[in-house]
Amino acid sequence: MTPSPIHRDIRDTLNRPIRDLRISVIDNCNLRCTYCMPQETYGERYKFLPESELLTFDEIERITRAFVAFGVTKIRITGGEPLLRRDIPQLVGRVRAIAGVEDVALTTNGLLLRRHARALAEAGLNRVTVSIDSLDDDVVGKMNGRGVNAGVVLDGIEAAREAGMKNIKVNAVVQRGVNEHTIVELVRYFLERDIIVRFIEYMDVGNRNGWRLDHVVPAREIVETIHAEMPLRPAGRNYRGEVAERHLFEDGPGEIGVISSVTAPFCGDCTRARLSAEGKFYTCLFAGSGHDLRGPLRAGENDEDLGRRVAAIWTGRDDRYSELRASMTDYGTSTPKVEMYHIGG
Ligand code: GTP
Ligand code: 5AD
Ligand code: SF4
Ligand code: SF4
Repeated sequence: MTPSPIHRDIRDTLNRPIRDLRISVIDNCNLRCTYCMPQETYGERYKFLPESELLTFDEIERITRAFVAFGVTKIRITGGEPLLRRDIPQLVGRVRAIAGVEDVALTTNGLLLRRHARALAEAGLNRVTVSIDSLDDDVVGKMNGRGVNAGVVLDGIEAAREAGMKNIKVNAVVQRGVNEHTIVELVRYFLERDIIVRFIEYMDVGNRNGWRLDHVVPAREIVETIHAEMPLRPAGRNYRGEVAERHLFEDGPGEIGVISSVTAPFCGDCTRARLSAEGKFYTCLFAGSGHDLRGPLRAGENDEDLGRRVAAIWTGRDDRYSELRASMTDYGTSTPKVEMYHIGG
């Protein structure tokens, strides 16, 4: 039997282990989704990170090894838009090869997927999640802030299928009065193609998307809307800490998921760590600041000390923002938080 690569299974202050590492590889994006990077803020003059500030693949690999030693088995590569960074298939291959890594996934908006799908599949990418909020071109074009039609994204998904990727999922953010009327169409389209759609409650990530509670469509309502046309029954979670609540179709195969971060938070099981493109370790999607790992690394820190640093941060972790949000008088709108495109969701 191969010895477990885990040196030590660490727990945070709420007894949560560390299992997932979400690695942002770039802070820029080729879309400007209104709920993430509104064009008014992220226009032509906005300064994204220069290449020298981004972690190199060598640095990402070293940091990933440090996390794996404490129990991480799942890696998700995110952005901004990760496929804007050169040679991502090479990074996939390198992370995939680390002993202890069981699953490497990628979150993308799909625009560049046709170009890279084959190389990603060949590099061993296990799963891809593509974001598309509606099939209606007017709706989706407004939501992505760049007028990009659904067809471009659907073609990217098709390319991933042609490349042999089996585990394709779709993420759709739902906003009140914006795309809620197009939910069922999205479900029907992807059900025919054997792809699981997961609807995400619009979240108050960052401080720049003008979030308001009355713009959130509760997961319960999303499920009811679908159920009225295509009967559903609730299913259990696939694994402890899964963010999506699953629902199966009564009348045949297939499922959908809802991610209810606002109306039914799931912090109790949160085993996710996040690494920003410039090498900051965030212990929560809503954290106000991260812990710099790049500085010490570039100053020559050895693997052992890097490991100690990572463990000290995780064992001191007490984040449960979504659970606390409901008790905040302003629902957290004035709390300083990292922007979503910085740590990729
Ligand atoms: P699977 O491994 O396929 O279950 O996916 P995942 O858990 O990695 O989910 P994914 O990255 O697709 O997450 C979907 C969305 O859920 C993200 O883009 C976020 O919007 C939201 N989400 C994921 N993790 C968290 C979290 O820890 N807290 C909150 N509040 N939202 C999260
Ligand atoms: N609320 C919910 N989901 C969001 N995403 C980005 N910003 C938000 C937000 N404010 C989603 C994207 C993508 C995933 C990475 O996170 O649509 O699917
Ligand atoms: Fe880009 Fe994703 Fe943010 Fe949209 S949600 S602007 S695709 S990073
Ligand atoms: Fe985890 Fe923070 Fe999300 Fe809660 S709010 S599930 S602690 S990332």
